[in-house]
Amino acid sequence: MIGVLVSGHGSNLQALLDAGLPVGAVASNRKAAYALERARTAGVPTATFSLECFVDREERDLVMASWLEEHEVELVVLAGYMHLLTRPFLQRFPDRIVNVHPSLLPAFPGVHAIDDALGAGVETTGVTIHRVDEGIDTGPVIAQEQVPVEPRETLVERIHAVEHRLLVEAVRTLCPVAR
Ligand code: GRF
Repeated sequence: MIGVLVSGHGSNLQALLDAGLPVGAVASNRKAAYALERARTAGVPTATFSLECFVDREERDLVMASWLEEHEVELVVLAGYMHLLTRPFLQRFPDRIVNVHPSLLPAFPGVHAIDDALGAGVETTGVTIHRVDEGIDTGPVIAQEQVPVEPRETLVERIHAVEHRLLVEAVRTLCPVAR
């Protein structure tokens, strides 16, 4: 099963669901994340692990990891999940956590990747799917695709379209039950 961590709108989660991939659990740090609504609509179990309910991030991550394991999750996908994961969580899913990021890493890590690429005046940016480690968008790259910045009015939309396709392709190759 695939476990998906979300914080926001959930369009990448929707792409995984629409592709028929075996999403067995969706967890969020934010109760109000619209992504949770998408999961519920698809009949997928959801849970929220707000930081304020735990002593610290490590404890939150351990409880979240246990919940994912209870749902037989083998591969964890970060789809717009806006918190860093702590070492105890990473150790529970070694080499089995992937993230989708809207730039050609290592260029423009962090939460403002599209704006940062625009600000830097690059002609080409893109999308990266990578394994997750303790850094901010630093794990080994699995797949990348370039996206031209112009026309910039449609850049965000074009990046998201590439994200949805590339994430589904990468998860298909990583998730044994989905092959
Ligand atoms: C995506 O651009 C993803 O790359 C970034 O956050 C955004 C999440 O979008 N990490 P959504 O919640 O999947 O619609």
